[in-house]
Amino acid sequence: MKRKEFIKQIGFSAGAVTFSPLLVSCLDVNSVQNGDFQLPLALPSELPGTNSTLNASPSNIQIGDSYSLSAFQFNNSVPSPTIRKKRGDTVRIRFENNIGQESIIHWHGLIVPPDMDGHPKDAFTEGSYDYEYTINQRAGTYWYHPHPHRITGPQVYKGLAGFYLVEDEEEQALNLPSGDYEIPLVIQDRRVNGSEIVYNPSMPDRMMSGFLGDLILVNGVPTPFHEVGPGYYRLRILNGSNARIYNLAFENDASFTVIGTDSGLLPKPIETNELLLAPGERADILVDFSNGFNEEKVQLISKSFDIPSGGMMGMQNMMGRGFEQGTGFSIMEFRITKSDANTSFELPEQLSAVDFPSEGDATTTRQIQLDMQMMQGHTINGRQFEMERVDERVNQGDTEIWEFINNTNFPHPMHVHAVHFKVLERNGNRGLLPTETGWKDTVLVMPGERVKVIMKFDAPLGMYVFHCHNLEHEDAGMMANFQIIN
Ligand code: C2O
Ligand code: CU
Ligand code: CU
Repeated sequence: MKRKEFIKQIGFSAGAVTFSPLLVSCLDVNSVQNGDFQLPLALPSELPGTNSTLNASPSNIQIGDSYSLSAFQFNNSVPSPTIRKKRGDTVRIRFENNIGQESIIHWHGLIVPPDMDGHPKDAFTEGSYDYEYTINQRAGTYWYHPHPHRITGPQVYKGLAGFYLVEDEEEQALNLPSGDYEIPLVIQDRRVNGSEIVYNPSMPDRMMSGFLGDLILVNGVPTPFHEVGPGYYRLRILNGSNARIYNLAFENDASFTVIGTDSGLLPKPIETNELLLAPGERADILVDFSNGFNEEKVQLISKSFDIPSGGMMGMQNMMGRGFEQGTGFSIMEFRITKSDANTSFELPEQLSAVDFPSEGDATTTRQIQLDMQMMQGHTINGRQFEMERVDERVNQGDTEIWEFINNTNFPHPMHVHAVHFKVLERNGNRGLLPTETGWKDTVLVMPGERVKVIMKFDAPLGMYVFHCHNLEHEDAGMMANFQIIN
């Protein structure tokens, strides 16, 4: 069944709000066929050179065969070019802003000085910004995207988001699948209106669930396919969506191995058959297509999942549009049709030496209250973002515990700049995810949850932000400044 027919059948037509949330929420992934897998997966190019330019400009582009998008692109490409660097490299990148609105680039997951971090106060409208910094951190699947106050959502949505891969010797020694066997996948949902991809969040979109779409793009291609061989592949998956959470799984329920997350490799590989990934988070997984995959075609899907209710019962259902948060659907298709395979790789027992701080190292515990206020929307400790106000002061070199407390009815993926943290605990039923056994920079806090993270502030002195990575929430002010002081 074609996607359009399917949409008609469930009584939802793009552009009109004639859809039954009840109906959608009873569908499970087996009956949701929002993918035609007609187009090959695109792979991002790599940004060449040591003195490179990222030029952001507007243009009207085609997405797949059927949709147009008034896009912003880095260097005229969708997906954005991948930056690949080694630990120890000095990076020089000039950002040229030609999109006609304020912007600044943030290197998500990189620990760099405050004036290199893309704080929203450094956003500019015309000209260029020169970045120069040295990478002194673990190998990992990082990424980059714009960070201007109030308009990060539309700029990322329209195409400005790319991978930033850092390599180091520890990782190299593992001989992980590389070349054709290493595939970056950025997953993003888009809302369509007729033949157009649109970004037009309503007040409820902004104040409540964020902007959810019903068309799934992988590396900028609607529900694509990719041909693989019967052996190990390394999939570096980035949730580059504004608001949507994915519960990654294969339709045949085959297991896969999580080896890394936001800030690099886990201590040990962890096998699972589903994995929740919130906006901004990354999952580095190994899939052995010779093990547990008997069919020639297998879909990577997002399995339906529950969102605990924070109190305002049913709000989300009433206001949701498109595929509701938590609904199942397909993402892409792997075709195990190639004969060549990566057979030399063996999964090691240990991946990475990690040295997490322990609770006793912490000098301070801060509570970060996430609330929803009438007329204001989502707030952090009761307030919305102000460019110059310092909300938290932390001493350089200190280890702190931050406890994110979600008092709202909506999930909040909380992201802290300039640090990597370890998730210590999550109250409630969920416990820790496989990805939460490693170093992270973004953590999903579901309604009603309290999540504790521990981190050491070693970045250079100055002001950085932390915020919800639901980009509509961030744009609506769910962000705060922290200053690293002496
Ligand atoms: Cu990816 Cu402050 O963000
Ligand atoms: Cu960041
Ligand atoms: Cu949020």
